[in-house]
Amino acid sequence: MHSVIADPRVAAALERLYAAAKGDRWVFLRAAPAALWSLLRGGSMLDGVLPYLQDAYIPITPEQGDFLYLTARLIDARTIVEFGTSFGISALYLAAAARANGGRFIGSERESGKLSAARANIAAAGLAGVAEVREGDAMATFAELPAPIDFVLLDGWKDLYLPMLRLLAPKLRAGAAVFADNVFTFPKELAAYVAFVRDPVNGFASMTLPLGHGLEYSVRLAPVTIRA
Ligand SMILES: C[S@@+](CC[C@H](N)C(=O)[O-])C[C@H]1O[C@@H](n2cnc3c(N)ncnc32)[C@H](O)[C@@H]1O
Repeated sequence: MHSVIADPRVAAALERLYAAAKGDRWVFLRAAPAALWSLLRGGSMLDGVLPYLQDAYIPITPEQGDFLYLTARLIDARTIVEFGTSFGISALYLAAAARANGGRFIGSERESGKLSAARANIAAAGLAGVAEVREGDAMATFAELPAPIDFVLLDGWKDLYLPMLRLLAPKLRAGAAVFADNVFTFPKELAAYVAFVRDPVNGFASMTLPLGHGLEYSVRLAPVTIRA
């Protein structure tokens, strides 16, 4: 697997984790009837599959990871925050960038099994010194974060992208990058989020990058007061 990450411990951990993540296809196969049933009843696909996702990696793609790593390096991101860490694949890209920039990575995970695995994977990659993963609901664990925040990846459950952005926005520095994954997978669920970051009144400029599952890329233009 080609990657912009040169560090052999990080690269080896990524290889191993992406290989393990191939097992997700069986999870999604098992969840397919429930997802279909949820859609037929007018609900969201995510509501149907959620009970099946406790052991699923559902990671960003390697090309998304490389792009996030390079962007974090480009803007010299020192404080990098992630909503939804899972087993730590995206965390490895982001913590590697934070380390190279002389900064730190703060992730979040509510599933305890995934949390311990993420911490172990980060340690195996040699990144434990610059990375922490907070346990529990990120809406609570991210209530207290250091400012300024330079870089955010939103990749937890989709109903919380907008509340999470509202929570973090006052701490974003001008020029901070906010990435939100899955805008192609969940267009309905993420419509309000996308509308928010595209409305200049909220202090962002934003576009969708056709990377992986659709990556909304928003840049914080200036500090503004977010409307309730
Ligand atoms: C799509 S996966 C994240 C994948 C990860 N970013 C990667 O690329 O390897 C979403 C994760 O977010 C976690 N999550 C969802 N809602 C959360 C919340 N409110 N607080 C913390 N973690 C949450 C889920 O348990 C799940 O493991």
